[in-house]
Amino acid sequence: MIAITTIFIWIGVLAVVPYLALVAYGAFYCKEQNLKDKYQAKWALVTGGSSGIGAAIVKKLASQGLNVVVVALDDQLLASFKESIVQEFPQQSFRFVGCDLSDAQYGYMGKIKEQTDDIDVQIVCNNAGFITTGAFADVKLERQMANYNTNVTACLTISHHFLNRLLDNHLKGLVTFTSSSAGFIPNPMSSLYASTKIFLTTFAASLAAEYFEDGIDVLVVHPSPINSNFYSNAGKMSALTSAQKISSSPSIIADTICRDAGKVVVADQGFITVIMKIITTKLLDWNVFTEIMKHCLRFTGDYKAMKVRREKSS
Ligand SMILES: NC(=O)c1ccc[n+]([C@@H]2O[C@H](COP(=O)([O-])OP(=O)(O)OC[C@H]3O[C@@H](n4cnc5c(N)ncnc54)[C@H](OP(=O)(O)O)[C@@H]3O)[C@@H](O)[C@H]2O)c1
Repeated sequence: MIAITTIFIWIGVLAVVPYLALVAYGAFYCKEQNLKDKYQAKWALVTGGSSGIGAAIVKKLASQGLNVVVVALDDQLLASFKESIVQEFPQQSFRFVGCDLSDAQYGYMGKIKEQTDDIDVQIVCNNAGFITTGAFADVKLERQMANYNTNVTACLTISHHFLNRLLDNHLKGLVTFTSSSAGFIPNPMSSLYASTKIFLTTFAASLAAEYFEDGIDVLVVHPSPINSNFYSNAGKMSALTSAQKISSSPSIIADTICRDAGKVVVADQGFITVIMKIITTKLLDWNVFTEIMKHCLRFTGDYKAMKVRREKSS
């Protein structure tokens, strides 16, 4: 019995300790790097750069002396961000691509190419994304597909284009993805979101290995809750309301990118992400976790509210 217990303790230690060592390395040992110098770059591109995490990344990169292409929905938010960023960093150049990344026909690629064909974009931050709440079949398919295309397809098309440009021109570079710790677990009542995010994580980890030898770094960030419009655009969901209450500033993610680029592939930022990763991928088996989720969802307020809505509309 003692031998079995010891074996289980060792399995636990072997699973958790190397992980925590990597987290500590990324969070405490790695120092802020100037990405302009690191990649001998002039230009970066940030999607979803008009607000929240994206806007913080744009500011950080501009403060390091980089020129930035800002890609976001062509709305008032982009217009006011344009005004403020140009004033804040008069010495840097900015280009703005107002477009809809949910376009299934990749219409945004034409606009992005128009603004970038004459420059070398060496840092690409795939950051735009949003969450759709509600039971999957209750939400219109168009909305689900728009969410999928923004969170996943746009990252593929944009990364494919700029990776080829970097390779063709033998340039060093960085490609980042803003994923989410939501991807560690099944996310009933926002099922598409977690699925798109775990796609990004796996995709980024594979790219990191493919382009390591070419001097192109890939980094995927799993933020802990960040205070941004993400929550106001999300619709009502109790898990999100709780997450927003403990959220941090978007600048934390920009700092994480500058610290961890080329140092680690996966940046689990913050306490919430690290605890979630340990519980859901190291202490509890994923298959077991999904069974617990399946049996417990019905007791949550979000599920009960969805049932009431369905009954009213039938
Ligand atoms: N906030 C968090 O706690 C958290 C945690 C983990 C991961 N994330 C991820 O972080 C990323 C950034 O989110 P955020 O928190 O910074 O939220 P945010 O403030 O809402 O920023 C999202 C950005 O993406 C843009 N965007 C959304 N849909 C678009 C579309 N179809 N086409 C072009 N641009 C579009 C938005 O433009 P508009 O504002 O004009 O719509 C905005 O610039 C997302 O991928 C999100 O999933 C956030």
